[in-house]
Amino acid sequence: MIGVFDSGLGGLTVVKEIWRQLPGRGVVYLGDTARTPYGTKSRHLIQRYSLQDAEFLLAKGAKVIVVACNTASAQAVEALRRHVDVPVFEVVTPAVNSAAILTSGRVGVIGTRGTVRSGIYERKMKRLSPQTTIFSAACPLFVPLVEEGWTKRPETVSIAREYLRPLRLRRIDTLILGCTHYPFLRSVIRQAIGSKVKLIDPAHDTVAELATYLKQHLELDAVLRTKHSTSIYVSDLTERFTALAGDWLGRKLRVRSAEIG
Ligand code: DGL
Repeated sequence: MIGVFDSGLGGLTVVKEIWRQLPGRGVVYLGDTARTPYGTKSRHLIQRYSLQDAEFLLAKGAKVIVVACNTASAQAVEALRRHVDVPVFEVVTPAVNSAAILTSGRVGVIGTRGTVRSGIYERKMKRLSPQTTIFSAACPLFVPLVEEGWTKRPETVSIAREYLRPLRLRRIDTLILGCTHYPFLRSVIRQAIGSKVKLIDPAHDTVAELATYLKQHLELDAVLRTKHSTSIYVSDLTERFTALAGDWLGRKLRVRSAEIG
């Protein structure tokens, strides 16, 4: 099974991409809803939570781990790779690779405070494409707005304009949606940043990277295909999560409760 974890709901965007790009593989998802958000927490805590999340998925039979959460990808992946002995995929590197190909030299990245504070997008881009400049902006209100379902409201457009104004002024040509939830605000972000800026959804690029890896590791792919189902776990099971998950995935799935840590 492909194990996917996130601090909560947002990582279901990665599950959807797996269904699209890698149909027929088993998926086990963990949303750490009891301890969400990760974006405001310290590096130390994000690492501890991420290790516990990965251990839960391994115990459920995951043979690959995908860190769907940008905050955990930014702050915990090296620690994770030291502790687990299955391949670990994260969402930052594929998005940077994609931005380096698409940009004319000015990239914007938006994310939680934790992701922006980590500076990881800047560091990775500098290594890959030193001539590209990255400008970043934290958008802390976006996650609660998505979780409230305010993805098309005029108030959300105003907030997006406010957050994205500095990036607009910097005349970015490419924008990385560096948080699980932001693809749900795509149309609002599009209105706020203008029609010419290319938008990058890390979930898409991450699953594309996993698909390429599996083409080179057919034995692992065969193991992932032995189970076809998707199981969804959360550390705090609420009716609201179940309803939102059904809406987001476009499919009703049983959501189960997980004991973590
Ligand atoms: N999943 C987080 C991320 O992608 C957003 C929500 C949170 O702060 O936990 O950064």
